[in-house]
Amino acid sequence: MENIKLNIDKVLGFVSKEQIMALEPAVKKAQAGLEEANLPGNDFLGWLHLPSSITKEFIEEINATAATLRRNCDVVVVAGIGGSYLGARAVIEALSNNFAAMMPTAGNPRVVFAGHNISEDYLSELTAFLADKKFGVINISKSGTTTETALAFRLLKKQCEEQRGKETASKVIVAITDAVKGAARITADKEGYKSFIIPDNVGGRFSVLTPVGLLPIAVAGFDIEALVKGAQDMEKACAPTVPFEENIAAMYAATRNALYANGKKIEILVNYQPKLHFTSEWWKQLYGESEGKENKGIFPASVDFTTDLHSMGQWIQEGERTIFETVLSIEKPNSSLIVPSDEANLDGLNFLAGKHVDEVNKMAELGTQLAHVDGGVPNMRISIPELNAYYIGQLIYFFEIGCGISGYVLGVNPFNQPGVEAYKKNMFALLDKPGYEAESKAIRARL
Ligand code: PA5
Repeated sequence: MENIKLNIDKVLGFVSKEQIMALEPAVKKAQAGLEEANLPGNDFLGWLHLPSSITKEFIEEINATAATLRRNCDVVVVAGIGGSYLGARAVIEALSNNFAAMMPTAGNPRVVFAGHNISEDYLSELTAFLADKKFGVINISKSGTTTETALAFRLLKKQCEEQRGKETASKVIVAITDAVKGAARITADKEGYKSFIIPDNVGGRFSVLTPVGLLPIAVAGFDIEALVKGAQDMEKACAPTVPFEENIAAMYAATRNALYANGKKIEILVNYQPKLHFTSEWWKQLYGESEGKENKGIFPASVDFTTDLHSMGQWIQEGERTIFETVLSIEKPNSSLIVPSDEANLDGLNFLAGKHVDEVNKMAELGTQLAHVDGGVPNMRISIPELNAYYIGQLIYFFEIGCGISGYVLGVNPFNQPGVEAYKKNMFALLDKPGYEAESKAIRARL
């Protein structure tokens, strides 16, 4: 099986090969720091060798729980936010039919998401949608105290118990949380829910290959064994023993840091497949939360092409020259569709007749890359042979290890997120949460 590949040829007009190669010592230091766990954030490295530590028995246990939910539910609501949400959604959307939500379920439960916003309309509409459904819940929260998730779960638990009875509800609600602490753990133990542990040393944004991602993905009917196998193969391909220039994670980390040093402050992750939209959302959290601190960090943005070429394309082609692009390129589509010939040819598209739609997409991709390079936008390409569970597994681990290395090269602790507390403090003060009396008074004075 071949691996995903990284091509940096089209950044070389913007940074020199020497500049990238000069980062080899910093990359090696970062790799050693990860392996030896001697750099800041070293208590959150459980993801590093996670793929190779996943056993067959563990996958079987996840698949068995998924089978129980699949058997007993028409809909499974996955409640979680941030790292407890985006990985599962990214993989499920990447592997699902584009129109799955509108198609008959064919024995698969529908997987829907909650706990990632505080919208009254969203939660009311979800409640109404579930009113006549046999539904179950996967409640995912490492801390067990996240407001968005806890609020959604409070509603979902009550509704599930009312609709299905307490005993059945306890069999179709699964908790994925800390081993001992937090409300989600206490509730799971009290109610007798099946539960899985999020390891202490795996941060949310690195947790997709724990039950946080694996259970929802298995419930959606996808092959988690293949996903893990892809990640395992990438763990080998990105090991510190692999020479710098052959190690795609090391090269990605070095290249983006070299671009950043040359004033390219924004990385745009580009896809040409709508199914990859949430892969970009997951990637944005991974890199944004890991690197954006101490007034440093590449800003991770994303676009869906060719759709956004008709909106953001103008900015990318001619706006401020502080951006670079990383393109996710799927080499071979999973389906086949030929452009038909048309006698009247009013749209003038007969020159495409007989070609695969994907060939048109690929020429758009190539043409865009060259146009953007000509416009001053460095381009990297990540080639993915096919969009399937195995290669998504490779991509996940590639981005995780690339992020760990890149954060250390940048000089930050990639495994903390102190900045996410600020909004919570203000929100709790404004909502008069007990214990926030002084903050409530202070914040109201500022309104
Ligand atoms: O990466 C992170 O740490 C965050 O995005 C968390 O995953 C997110 O805030 C959800 O936290 P929790 O799983 O504790 O509910």
